[in-house]
Amino acid sequence: MAKSLISINQLVKSFKIGGETVTALHRVSLQIESGEFIAIIGPSGSGKSTLMNMIGCLDKPDSGEYSLEGQDVGKMNDNQLAAIRNKKIGFIFQNFNLLPKLSAIENVELPLIYSGINSSERKNIAKDCLDKVGLLDRATHLPNQLSGGQQQRIAIARALVCNPPILLADEPTGALDSKTSAEIIEVMKNLNAQGRTIIIITHDLDVASQAKRIVQIKDGRLFEKGGNKIEVSSVY
Ligand SMILES: Nc1ncnc2c1ncn2[C@@H]1O[C@H](COP(=O)(O)OP(=O)(O)O)[C@@H](O)[C@H]1O
Ligand SMILES: [Mg+2]
Repeated sequence: MAKSLISINQLVKSFKIGGETVTALHRVSLQIESGEFIAIIGPSGSGKSTLMNMIGCLDKPDSGEYSLEGQDVGKMNDNQLAAIRNKKIGFIFQNFNLLPKLSAIENVELPLIYSGINSSERKNIAKDCLDKVGLLDRATHLPNQLSGGQQQRIAIARALVCNPPILLADEPTGALDSKTSAEIIEVMKNLNAQGRTIIIITHDLDVASQAKRIVQIKDGRLFEKGGNKIEVSSVY
């Protein structure tokens, strides 16, 4: 049987604060296939970012298994985790995380700096990614000269620059109005149509309902109704 792109089994993650233990993920299992557009939805504090950190190889679980393209992430050291992150996953965050003193194109190029690709080739790849998000004409603008939606599109271009198969977005529309949110989701739909696997973490029902598949998280536990159906009352 072909392996899932992402295969998570029985992940547990807890945090100790003072004498208290908060279990953020309770035996979470999730399989994601290549080419999916999946939303993980849940209220604040439900464990969404903790799960994103696991999927993104940014943090390790207390127990459970995670394999990414058949590779056992749990057995990797920090260097191997950094390498797999870089190759496989493009990250998108709520607050864009652009460097304010770099132009749009310089921000997009940044992940390529250590790749050994020469400067003119880097520029070409960055331009191509800016073009994919429709912002080639803003290449030399600084982030503060761009709207929130444009800044998020620059951040998406940056996430694409190493050509990762997976885009992982934590509340990508959390800082945007509903019209701009819809534009960002449209960009992601187009990228998905081109074969990229998209994982969006959100507390916004309108955003989640745009995905092909919805998984709900509540108190660190996942559940799924099938397709992009959602049990509203059980989340809110
Ligand atoms: N680094 C941390 N230290 C302590 N507790 C944490 C940490 N990260 C998350 N938590 C706790 O884990 C739970 C889930 O948090 P989080 O994954 O950030 O939720 P969400 O992204 O859905 O708002 C919360 O109770 C939160 O307080
Ligand atoms: Mg969060």
